Amino acid sequence: MTTRFVHTPVSRPELMIYAQFQGGDLPVDATPEMTAASKRSDFDASAGTSASVFPANAPRALLIGLGEKDKWSHETARKVAEAIAPVIIATKAGSVQFDLRDVPLASEFGREFGVALAKAGWDGRSMVSKKDDDRKVETSALEENFDKGLIAGLGLGTSVNMCRDLVNTPPNIATPKWMADYAMQVGKEAGLEVSMISGDGLDEHQLVGLQNVGRASINEPCLIRIEYKPSDIVVGQPVVLVGKTITYDTGGLSIKGKDGMPGMKCDKGGGCAVLAAMHAIATVIKPKAHVVALLVAAENCISENAYRPDDVITYRNGVTVEVTNTDAEGRLVLADGLIWACEVERASKIVDMATLTGGVVTALGHVFAGGFGNDDGHYSALEQAGKSSGDKMWRLPLHDEYKEYMKSPIADIVNSVKGGKAHPVQGGTFLSFFVEEGTPWVHIDIAGKAMPADGPTGFGVRILAEWLEQTAS
Ligand code: BES
Ligand code: MN
Ligand code: ZN
Repeated sequence: MTTRFVHTPVSRPELMIYAQFQGGDLPVDATPEMTAASKRSDFDASAGTSASVFPANAPRALLIGLGEKDKWSHETARKVAEAIAPVIIATKAGSVQFDLRDVPLASEFGREFGVALAKAGWDGRSMVSKKDDDRKVETSALEENFDKGLIAGLGLGTSVNMCRDLVNTPPNIATPKWMADYAMQVGKEAGLEVSMISGDGLDEHQLVGLQNVGRASINEPCLIRIEYKPSDIVVGQPVVLVGKTITYDTGGLSIKGKDGMPGMKCDKGGGCAVLAAMHAIATVIKPKAHVVALLVAAENCISENAYRPDDVITYRNGVTVEVTNTDAEGRLVLADGLIWACEVERASKIVDMATLTGGVVTALGHVFAGGFGNDDGHYSALEQAGKSSGDKMWRLPLHDEYKEYMKSPIADIVNSVKGGKAHPVQGGTFLSFFVEEGTPWVHIDIAGKAMPADGPTGFGVRILAEWLEQTAS
């Protein structure tokens, strides 16, 4: 069942939320029951703990622990919100009011609570035939900054859940065309310009990566373009976000095994995060910036028409690629997006996001995404947004020696080094051949983050949206 938190001033809340630091004071108007709860042996006010309070003449309350006051940080605030959100849902209260006077980092805490509530209310079983109705919970806060944060957080959480729904949608439904239609719908609702290039258009614009990777599938490949352009800014060179949108990755003729293929509906995770980030940008962040998103969408399939190992592809920037492995398809479609970002959009900065390599999961597990960048300033700004939003990434190298490593005996480069190592770095290095010299660019490999075993996370939405918030509002 989906629990939907909506921000509405609540006059007679069914549940009140109070907080206490370890060894800290209770609110001045604490009821005797709350004082009793704070002394219970199962509640020590450590971060993320809680105690239910049932006062005689006041609404039910939840007393939440914030941990040690001098260790209070944005990250602890996120952890507390993530721990408490399911507890709030479990109370089944129809309205919740936060009374967190005197808690520092109020607006950050409010935002984290908003996101955590939205995320905890999400139900991944969207395709079960018998569904319960959604449950709506009215939510508000008495402290102004916390309340503003809460509003933004609920909005961001909606975008994060949009990403999770998209990643979750099975590949027989979420085809490239379906992704484009979805983007158009989002564009209509959120005020974004959305267009699509497919069929002959791919020929015309020499989008050869999409054509080759997508040509075995009856679900045709396309480039989806989404534009955010506030009316009150001078339009210069846009920030461009590029998302790998492989709606299913069988590996192609270099086919995956029966254990490697299930779950590959998540291979559109980069594009889903970029699309949902555009939603967050248009509905919550509203930065004073011109932003263009490019979703390179294709299905990596097999048929007699499939592209093959040994094929050579010539890109519109002149780079020739010898295909050595059709399962290294993401970089081939991203190349189109990166060239387009540079040549057509004249991007001021680029960020691409992709479920690119299994190797990044081996290296960093499900904790950090892999980050790459050709410009330290651009990289650090994203890394900072990663830290504050919780979408963490860890930097891996780009270096000319790896460019040598990617050389092909018959073309400029191979798409994967046979028997090679350092796959995430190979991926990043390959992509660097398609970014113009001097254009700041960051590549984020989210293969370990988009859909771990317990389902889609929505990773990537916050780092992109909040990076724009921190750099451009
Ligand atoms: N889509 C996969 C990467 C992936 C792995 C995403 C696990 C999500 C979870 C990508 O297209 C792929 O197949 N990569 C290969 C590259 C190799 C063949 C050079 C890989 O990493 O094994
Ligand atoms: Mn693949
Ligand atoms: Zn893939």
